[in-house]
Amino acid sequence: MNSQRMSGIKACVFDAYGTLFDVSSVARCCKEALGDQWEQFSDLWRTKQLQYTWLRGLSGHHANFWQVTGEALDFAMATLKVEDQGLRNHLMELYLTLETFPEVREVLRRLKAGGLKLAILSNGTPTMLESAARNAGISDLLDALYSVEEVGVYKPHPTVYRMPSERLGLVGSEICFLSSNSWDAYSAKASGLRVIWCNRFGQAAERLPSPPDRVIKDLGPLPSIVLA
Ligand code: LAC
Repeated sequence: MNSQRMSGIKACVFDAYGTLFDVSSVARCCKEALGDQWEQFSDLWRTKQLQYTWLRGLSGHHANFWQVTGEALDFAMATLKVEDQGLRNHLMELYLTLETFPEVREVLRRLKAGGLKLAILSNGTPTMLESAARNAGISDLLDALYSVEEVGVYKPHPTVYRMPSERLGLVGSEICFLSSNSWDAYSAKASGLRVIWCNRFGQAAERLPSPPDRVIKDLGPLPSIVLA
């Protein structure tokens, strides 16, 4: 854990799912229908969703995140023997109105008041990101939503991590990227951004090149790290 100041930051760019938005909130909302296995269901859905993005990236068969999220949901439902088309539709709809983690809005407000540019950089489609941000009441705090759909390939392709610098007209060292997804944090660092890993789930460090600059447990300390 290291909350020393990081100087020269002009923009904070956030991963969406797992970092700003709590993906487990979807299955939690359907606890009654899913029963005791709701957490296992939620983890399997998320794990499969990410695996499909990596596999599609490597094989060159891109399909957008809405489709991939639906296909991962179908896999989770088939594996855990959940047969309910109405529930499937409801779970997908809930993905458009995910809850944020509790500290998110206030942290964004302080960063914005401190004069930083704020953006999302995510695998999500523009429609998914716009909907989630609007429902969470954070659209007004964000200057931009960068979707991988603009480049047609998923994280961790380096093209994705170059988007914020190109779009904001900043160099990588002026941008602080935040992700709770460790592999996303390491990959952004390898692509030249300053990076803070928001290690919400107390995971071990990855055995990958390019460790992030800092590790925090939630986004709470962020303003004191990046604001002058
Ligand atoms: C995203 C996934 C990685 O929002 O959480 O890009």
